[in-house]
Amino acid sequence: RADDGYRLWLKYDLLRDAGKREAYARSAQFISIQNNSRASSDPVLKTAAQELQAGLQGLLGKPVPIITSVPNKTGGIILTTGTGAESQSLNDEGYQITRRQNNLVITGKSSAGVLYGAFALLRQVQTLQSLEGIALTSSPKVRYRLLNHWDNVNGTIERGYAGSSLWKWYELPERIDPRYRDYARANASLGINGTVVNNVNASSRFLTGEYLEKVAALANVFRPYGIRVYLSVYFPAPKTIGGLNTADPLDPQVRQWWANKTKEIYAAIPDFGGFLVKANSEGEPGPQDYGRTHVDGANMLAEALAPYDGVVMWRSFVYKADPKGDRFKAAYEEFKPFDGQFNRKVIVQVKNGPIDFQSREPFSPLFGAMPRTPLAMEFQITQEYLGFATHLVYEAPLFKECLESDTYAKGKGSTVAKVIDGSLHGYPITAMAGVANTGSDRNWTGHTMGQANWYAFGRLAWDHTLSSEAIAREWVNMTLTNEPAAVSQITNLMLRSREIYVDYTTPLGLHHIMGYGIHYGPEPWKANASRPDWNHTYYHRADSIGVGFDRTATGSNALSLYAPDVQKLWGNAETCPLPYLLWFHHVPWTKKLSTGRSLWDELCTRYYTGVDSVAWMQRQWTQVKPVVDPEIYADVAGRLATQHKEALWWRDACVLYFQTFSRQPIPAPFKKPE
Ligand code: GCU
Repeated sequence: RADDGYRLWLKYDLLRDAGKREAYARSAQFISIQNNSRASSDPVLKTAAQELQAGLQGLLGKPVPIITSVPNKTGGIILTTGTGAESQSLNDEGYQITRRQNNLVITGKSSAGVLYGAFALLRQVQTLQSLEGIALTSSPKVRYRLLNHWDNVNGTIERGYAGSSLWKWYELPERIDPRYRDYARANASLGINGTVVNNVNASSRFLTGEYLEKVAALANVFRPYGIRVYLSVYFPAPKTIGGLNTADPLDPQVRQWWANKTKEIYAAIPDFGGFLVKANSEGEPGPQDYGRTHVDGANMLAEALAPYDGVVMWRSFVYKADPKGDRFKAAYEEFKPFDGQFNRKVIVQVKNGPIDFQSREPFSPLFGAMPRTPLAMEFQITQEYLGFATHLVYEAPLFKECLESDTYAKGKGSTVAKVIDGSLHGYPITAMAGVANTGSDRNWTGHTMGQANWYAFGRLAWDHTLSSEAIAREWVNMTLTNEPAAVSQITNLMLRSREIYVDYTTPLGLHHIMGYGIHYGPEPWKANASRPDWNHTYYHRADSIGVGFDRTATGSNALSLYAPDVQKLWGNAETCPLPYLLWFHHVPWTKKLSTGRSLWDELCTRYYTGVDSVAWMQRQWTQVKPVVDPEIYADVAGRLATQHKEALWWRDACVLYFQTFSRQPIPAPFKKPE
């Protein structure tokens, strides 16, 4: 049957190679949860066994019974939790897969660890790896691995491009859409262990009894998959739904209200994960409305959570309408002074870059600058600035570029990844969040290839050392095809896609020149917004001399927020790597770059070759037609055609607009014949 993309990377179709099936089947004659009364009733362990069973039966085409005891039986898979020697090297959610007495043994310290091990074993089979000498040990590098859903009460999704919300609030709690479970399966297969179900621009309705019941119903579905629910909170909720006349975080009544509310939440959801907060940001209310600080607000919520195992994720995404300021510096300036003042249950959630999820950004200068405050990474999976669900952009290289950037906070090698995983500053809590790209579309993400971004986020949240290529290969094998040449071809296309997108939209470090408000298509000319920092001319600063935002000492000096070695890397227009050039420098149109071309010619070259590269992606895709499911093939081919059309739109709009400043001709190779 045609594949509508619903099953994501959990396809479990019969393996085509009968020999391989035989070999795997010899190791998978049964599944057994090691006999111990506590273990056999553990819902997460049961999930692990059931997932393994369903997966293996599909892949191998024969029944794999789940049996209760293993008196010297061999040739099967044993699931076991333990604190024995073999689990010494694991953290709480890690797993180990080994062969013992001719059985495959999946061990975890917790049942969640076993569940992740079960999915890892399935992945081995799906990607056709041998199980013979298998010895896998893996522990997540980050403790809280979350999706953030920007989903609203009315079913819309802020910046969502794959239909409406997965959560049918009007049906909950009575009707449980089977899709909730499939959502949980997909996440658990990646190791995602938490989900914030509502928009950061939060409605206080989610904290009402009526909605808590609905959220609790979701939590009940997610729990057997090791996934906890979290809520975004509307800071003035004590006023809007609590009947108080203030939401001042230092007001005793307000504090009591939050304590009571939190108690009510835990009564409904005993494993509730905690709160995510957007406050005093883009018009959202917050503690500053009462002359208080981010610390006052966050610590108040942390105290409400004190009796429970929950955390506060307080976002640092703030910026002011200051015509003389540089938005780049805003989060740093507001948060850095508070380092060390937050309650130990607070983690400050920082977007990867200083502006807002652009196709390329330098890492946020907060990373490395807050040694005494746990910082969480916030990536955006949904393609708000990356062509929605019509442009093919594989995001792992974008995520990796940020994670591998060196902050030099403690000398060379102080990467952002080491900040986030806690190893650099010894953070007590660690987290990575991805703004989800899921929705009610049959294939979950609109663009089938967008599934790879959900996948890549989850895999990197588990282990940021995985390469973009390894993740892509895995995903392609599990989702599209096992045919080796096609796997390489699609992987290659994916790996190049982000740079291609950068080229035809915002090459050389241009940023924030997309359609105003909608954030789609080009609009570099936007100059009449209600705030200066919402104008796009603010970001590119094109004039008759050149283009780019001078963030060196002669400009906003945002560069000074970074360690000296980073300043050295980006601070000199002669040596600044070209992908970052216009982020930090106002460069003359005539300036000769390291490529041998002038800035103007280089800009045009990128826009033009970017468009040509989309045509290249189309050709690559055509070649894999014979081995990819027809429905998926057609979906992607159609979207690539739109992408090509829109790449032309971007190119022509930007080149012609910037040409009004540069007053130079389009370089010869790209000129259309008269
Ligand atoms: C972006 C996005 C908003 C979102 C905001 C945030 O600005 O466009 O829709 O609310 O980020 O992250 O809070």
